[in-house]
Amino acid sequence: MCAVANDAMERARAIVSRASALAVLTGSGISAESGVPTFRGAGGLWRTFRPEDLATTQAFERDPKLVWEWYDWRRGLVAAAQPNPAHHALVTLERRCREFTLATQNVDGLHALAGSRNLILLHGDLWTLRCVTCGAKREDRRVPLPVLPPRCVCGGLLRPGVVWFGESLPEGAIERASAAAANADALLMIGTSAAVWPAAGLGEVALDAGVPVIEINPEPTVYSDHVLSLAGRAGELLPRLL
Ligand code: OAD
Repeated sequence: MCAVANDAMERARAIVSRASALAVLTGSGISAESGVPTFRGAGGLWRTFRPEDLATTQAFERDPKLVWEWYDWRRGLVAAAQPNPAHHALVTLERRCREFTLATQNVDGLHALAGSRNLILLHGDLWTLRCVTCGAKREDRRVPLPVLPPRCVCGGLLRPGVVWFGESLPEGAIERASAAAANADALLMIGTSAAVWPAAGLGEVALDAGVPVIEINPEPTVYSDHVLSLAGRAGELLPRLL
């Protein structure tokens, strides 16, 4: 690491060690070191697949089997993955803080598997299936699923319990995350390109409230010039931040 980065790390450490209330926003980059692909950038899913073919209600109505084959494949990738040092570092931070809120855009379940407790799943969860007819939800961790597309006991189609493009976030999720970001002593933004709203707006919420924001990402984002930016991988930098 270069001298400037070390200085930034020291400033970040000082902020985090003083904070008794922390808010965190994570994106797919935090799971990259666990072997889960990100969406944008090199190797990102949206480089190979078109979101409009796979991650919209229209795509599901058009071809539920195709959509499910893609989600079943992703469930397989995630089932083989384990939390990495970045996920574990956030568990340690949660234990240290009086108030700790972790809002994630990730649907992989790795934060929960690591032991994070106060979690807000902004974009839902790969392991929950929801009936498009009766609305029933159920957890199903089988990989692969025996029949695609899966069906509910009511006969309706089950869909992945994730948020697709054009859909609303789970009720109250962004409100709770925004309140946490505005009232924290610091907001950490980890492994997100900050390209997707409303999650990306949490950085603005914090900045508007005068809350210091620390970003961890090997690549610059729209926030990098306005926040304390630590350029590097979460699995290396987050444990050092503690
Ligand atoms: P993106 O793929 O947009 O961004 C991932 C970010 O992680 C990039 O900025 C990378 O530079 C960074 N990154 C890569 N490796 C990293 C590492 N080891 N440590 C830290 N950062 C790393 O993923 P998200 O921001 O999560 O939504 O994308 C947001 C939403 O867009 C997703 O939830 C998904 C997607 O479309 C839906 O499917 C609704």
